[in-house]
Amino acid sequence: MTPQARLLLDTATAAAKAGGEVLMSYFRQGVSIRCKNGESADLVSEADVNAEQAVIRVIHAAFPDHSILGEESATDTDPNLPALWVIDPLDGTTNFLHDVPHFAVSIGYYERGVPVCAVIWNPARGDLYTAFKGSGAQYNGRPIHVNTTDRLDQSLIGTGFHVVRDGKMRATLGAIEELFGENIHCIRRFGSAALDLCQVASGLYGAYFEYQLSAWDFAAGLLIVQEAGGKVTAATGTPLLLQKSSILASNGLLHPIMEEIVGKHFKTI
Ligand code: IPD
Ligand code: CA
Ligand code: CA
Repeated sequence: MTPQARLLLDTATAAAKAGGEVLMSYFRQGVSIRCKNGESADLVSEADVNAEQAVIRVIHAAFPDHSILGEESATDTDPNLPALWVIDPLDGTTNFLHDVPHFAVSIGYYERGVPVCAVIWNPARGDLYTAFKGSGAQYNGRPIHVNTTDRLDQSLIGTGFHVVRDGKMRATLGAIEELFGENIHCIRRFGSAALDLCQVASGLYGAYFEYQLSAWDFAAGLLIVQEAGGKVTAATGTPLLLQKSSILASNGLLHPIMEEIVGKHFKTI
């Protein structure tokens, strides 16, 4: 790894840990909840906002000129900027606010739309997932890989529900029903898209899909899955762009069958 690559990865890791420290200072302390965008299930707390500030401080100390796209604050929304950090300071907000220790700080670094470096940190469990373009993916420093099954009837599949409970939810439930018809081992909905992508990268899920995410939900996880040998696209198999999108991540072998089922239900939305 070059010194610049090392600096990027170390900075992303230090930033994620700084954000995680802020989150842990609020976790299980009775944080007050606000609803976002008029949606009763779209939750935000003081913890999200302060964690994002801590993340940005660390990044800007190392790279003062770099651009930031953060869920709670900054708005450098052009995905093709030469040096862009995409931050979700708290992915798994609903878990966090209900005292469930399954949430993460997610940080992806992009150069002109290309994912270069990624860190996802669950501070409650001490789980660190990292990736650098061309250098593989790691869990707590050890290499991770997607699993190698091409059979749905040997697979655990992850999913998630968008906060707006409209056609996307009906389509998700339809896809789940069809997947059960294929005898999948089971469905998991753990509540953090970033960590769901890490489960694919680690070989726990054969695949994961969701019908609407924002760029910060998957910016880091996308590279972690790719570097672990998996494939990530939009639900219908088209390339995943750094913007609001559906997502399908898999071990690669399950991609065609998942694309057929998940893509078909996506088209009903
Ligand atoms: C949410 C989580 C959840 C997914 C939602 C996301 P947040 O992010 O990733 O798993 O199903 O679509 O919005 O709100 O916890 O940052
Ligand atoms: Ca999120
Ligand atoms: Ca969030």
